Amino acid sequence: MEFEVQPTETPVEAQARAEVLAAPAFGRVFTDHMVSARWTREQGWHDARLVPYAPLQVDPASVVLHYGQEVFEGLKAYRQPDGGVAMFRPDRNARRLNLSCRRLALPELPEEDFVAACELLVRTDAAWVPDGEGASLYLRPFMFADEVGLGVRPSESARFLVIASPAGNYFSGPLRPVSLWLSQEYARAAPGGTGAAKTGGNYAASLVAQQEAIENGCDQVVFLDAVERRWVEELGGMNLFLVLDDGTLVTPSLTGSILEGITRDSVITLARELGHAVEERKVDVDEWRKGATDGRVVEVFACGTAAVITPVGALRWPGGEAVAGDGQPGPVTTRLRNALLDLQYGRSADTHGWVRRVL
Ligand code: PLP
Ligand code: COI
Repeated sequence: MEFEVQPTETPVEAQARAEVLAAPAFGRVFTDHMVSARWTREQGWHDARLVPYAPLQVDPASVVLHYGQEVFEGLKAYRQPDGGVAMFRPDRNARRLNLSCRRLALPELPEEDFVAACELLVRTDAAWVPDGEGASLYLRPFMFADEVGLGVRPSESARFLVIASPAGNYFSGPLRPVSLWLSQEYARAAPGGTGAAKTGGNYAASLVAQQEAIENGCDQVVFLDAVERRWVEELGGMNLFLVLDDGTLVTPSLTGSILEGITRDSVITLARELGHAVEERKVDVDEWRKGATDGRVVEVFACGTAAVITPVGALRWPGGEAVAGDGQPGPVTTRLRNALLDLQYGRSADTHGWVRRVL
């Protein structure tokens, strides 16, 4: 894919940008540019450009607005010790986007074009990469069906875009354990459904449960499997790990209704290197509840691109609560978080080929 570059004539002023970078929120402010490409069945991918960040023109009858045919990704670019910038495992996001595309009947995008699009945007808007600990430039590649028509069928045209936003911690304020609400009524994804794809509908399905979590004083929802309502799956936007008292890490296996997190994969590798056994298997919610009480489960953490590794405090459900350990960030969680951040910020040697320098 060749990108035509059309830089903005009105970039955000340095002073205003500096104010954003000094205290970045999550996904509120966007950089000066975006990358955009179009696909049609006849022409394939074409019209790839880097253009000024701006609202899109979308026909009100576009397929995506009615039937939700869209997929997205999330990855980060980090400021390196020498002032350069690197993306973390963008090849994995490229691959996962295509898995999602297949499930949503959207066209696949060559992996090298995905990475090139992200790289072009980061290089162009490198001044927007913050440099504080925990801060990064969050990239949001996405694809949506823009054919006009209300018939329910796969779109014959699509658009791919990448936008970028300076990001601080996903959970506002300093790092603190998050509390989780065990959804009794709602499921996020079912066998045969779209749970393993990163598509907006999964997030739409999680929102009413998220609202319930907040009403119950919790930060996020834990979803159980849709059939037995017994097996822990994941949070609305993060994967989960339990740490057992013998140092073993346990995480729900990829059943097809869970998103295959790239952070999850990185944590599994790093934990094994640090000497932990890691089990990918079914996790009964009662193993968590009972284990937190009897001391078998000593730490719980959530992980994802946006949240990095975030300690979990209380698990709550109607009339009950379980807290693993003392509810504070545990030593294993902290060690893994630091090991991951050291890699992402280029402070430790990239022995896995996970870090892709952009500048
Ligand atoms: N699970 C869901 C539902 C997510 O939205 C995310 C975030 O992308 C994750 C897990 C974690 O995936 P990753 O580590 O690739 O960001
Ligand atoms: C991410 O971690 O990249 C996510 O997509 C999670 C959430 C912001 C949707």
